[in-house]
Amino acid sequence: MRRLRTQVGIIGAGPAGLVLANLLSRAGVACRVVERQSREHVEHRPRAGLLEHRVVAALRRDGLADRLLADGVRHGWCAFRCLGRDVRVDYGALSGGRRHWVYPQQFLVRDLIATLTGGAGPPPMFSKTVRAVEDVTTHRPRLVCDGIEIECEYVVGCDGFRGASRAALPAVRHRVFRRRYPYDWLTVLAEVDRPAEGVVYAVHPDGFAGIMPRTSRLSRFYLQCAPGDTADDWPAHRIHEQLRARLAPLPDIAGFPDVHVLRMRSSVTEPLRHGRLLLAGDAAHVLTPSGAKGMNLAIADAIALAGALLRRYRDGDRGALDAYSARRLPQIWRAQEFSDRLLRLLHLPPGKDGDAGFSLRLRLAAIERLGRPGPHAAAFAHDYVGSGAREPESPDAPHAAEGPTEGSAWP
Ligand code: APR
Repeated sequence: MRRLRTQVGIIGAGPAGLVLANLLSRAGVACRVVERQSREHVEHRPRAGLLEHRVVAALRRDGLADRLLADGVRHGWCAFRCLGRDVRVDYGALSGGRRHWVYPQQFLVRDLIATLTGGAGPPPMFSKTVRAVEDVTTHRPRLVCDGIEIECEYVVGCDGFRGASRAALPAVRHRVFRRRYPYDWLTVLAEVDRPAEGVVYAVHPDGFAGIMPRTSRLSRFYLQCAPGDTADDWPAHRIHEQLRARLAPLPDIAGFPDVHVLRMRSSVTEPLRHGRLLLAGDAAHVLTPSGAKGMNLAIADAIALAGALLRRYRDGDRGALDAYSARRLPQIWRAQEFSDRLLRLLHLPPGKDGDAGFSLRLRLAAIERLGRPGPHAAAFAHDYVGSGAREPESPDAPHAAEGPTEGSAWP
């Protein structure tokens, strides 16, 4: 058995683990990232792609956004389609000029690995699975892998909902709050003849459908489907037919390189810490893709945790680490609430109760309100783009004072 020692052991080379590793390494805190997949795998795994204004501002401040800023595309509007109407919401203008960056998650992961391996810190240990996290209530928690043990001062679980870190939490002291939605989403990565111009959400009697831009040749499409459906229930002709029915007009689609069903569920684990084990990203919370908040929240966790660990190591101040869970949970629930509210707007009540026409008209009224400049639309815009104006991450975070009128909830 090989033994290594480090200050911070990080499980998982997703956005959360890699942002944390970069920030700690460049500040001189020793850390090791352990990732069960190969580098090739994580650098080519298509997932999310919409980055919030405040997240990009923070990555830029920390020197982690060079390629993103060079190659990413900015988006400041989305459209809602309902009852034959297209309602455009200029959330960029409504939030005082803040916009999203469209940049596929796998590109960001590639960039973050490149900065780590280029000298910021030791490269991640790929193709190594953490089998167990042990001794987390002692001063020397350990990551146990096949043939190697890593003794740490702190362990950060950035290993998703099914990773090893959550298994080390005692059930009596932690609660997992979950919601299972009564539908799933078919997610389809499609080759398109021209880039999607913006995010489109369609509310339709057959079910929700959406478009999320990715690259000039790829867009992600979503189709609401029955809970429990699998990709086999959705042959290409059915996907084409339903995309056309719910989303027309559509770009020309050449092929579907990736089709799978996303189980629509959300969860939050509380608290985010046990002894010297801390959770960040999907290990701490799972969000539906409705508001494109998952990757953003994962990066925001990592930035907050890096700040807390640096205070601990640079100033000997443990207060920020002790406060990490209590400080992050309100932000996490805020993102959950945003995603949940958007889902309620985008889906008709389940069951054929004969009032679909009524429900659609209610939704159109709510959507039109989002498109009309005013406090409702501004509140949606700030939440959606992650302006950072309404919910400062830390007392020293930028943009702390601006924002729309308090209490202007949407719709
Ligand atoms: N040992 C080592 N690595 C592990 C283990 C383990 N036991 N279990 C999981 N992992 C790795 C996975 O292979 C994965 O690469 O942890 C990584 C977790 O990465 P992500 O799933 O990308 O999680 P995170 O960094 O929290 O980012 C999550 O990104 O795609 C968005 O919306 C999505 O919310 C999600 C966010």
